[in-house]
Amino acid sequence: MSDNITIAVSKGRIFKDAMPLLAALDIYPTEAPETTRKLILETNRPEVKIIIVRATDVPTYVEYGAADIGIAGKDVLLEYNGNGLYEPLDLKIAQCRMVVAELKNSRNEDRGGRKRIATKYVNIARNYFASQGKQVEIIKLYGSMELAPVLGLADQIVDLVDTGNTLKANGLVEVETITDISSRLIVNKGAMKMKNDLIKPMLEKLTEVVAAK
Ligand code: ATP
Ligand code: PRP
Repeated sequence: MSDNITIAVSKGRIFKDAMPLLAALDIYPTEAPETTRKLILETNRPEVKIIIVRATDVPTYVEYGAADIGIAGKDVLLEYNGNGLYEPLDLKIAQCRMVVAELKNSRNEDRGGRKRIATKYVNIARNYFASQGKQVEIIKLYGSMELAPVLGLADQIVDLVDTGNTLKANGLVEVETITDISSRLIVNKGAMKMKNDLIKPMLEKLTEVVAAK
């Protein structure tokens, strides 16, 4: 019998959306990430801990077994180059879509036929444009992608869109949808075997809760 389980979650929107799912598993953190600087949160269940990590680091903690399970956006998983993970369930939280966007009145600078794309999602962008047979130049940014076309740094961006408010506020329009995005439950491969007595019932309950939504 396994005796403990560690869950990796990022603070912000995923933590907020994950709270009702954790509650359905009878897991309630004793503190909230907004009100504590602690990165390991105890819960009402002594055998369950929640660790708070950057969204992009969740797969790393889970792949290496520092956490047994985690919740990560599909965008993060598509960018992540690892293979020590199971991704058994779409939790249907933090839903949005990955798009290509450009200035509303795009100037289409002449760059010898190769568009310049600014994005935090280099792998997703590279794979997408390759699948379209388009040669592009990709510029890696870490945020505020919407600025790049406005200042002439790039012709287009690849970014997440939900309401469309951020694009609109910066004079951009969506031109192509790459894929729908939501957050997934991820499980360390070893933990899936060794801690199956704890993980299996969690998975079954979550599957039920997500299906009922
Ligand atoms: P990091 O801190 O590692 O840079 P981040 O800033 O992207 O990550 P969040 O903004 O908390 O982290 O986003 C977490 C996840 O939520 C993303 O990976 C994505 O799956 C989803 N997401 C991002 N933006 C939106 C949005 N506007 N609406 C809904 N879901 C979103
Ligand atoms: C995300 C994304 C967009 C915005 C889209 O940013 O990178 O900028 O949300 O959402 P909307 O279509 O509803 O406006 P986020 O809020 O996570 O900010 P960050 O990239 O600085 O973390």
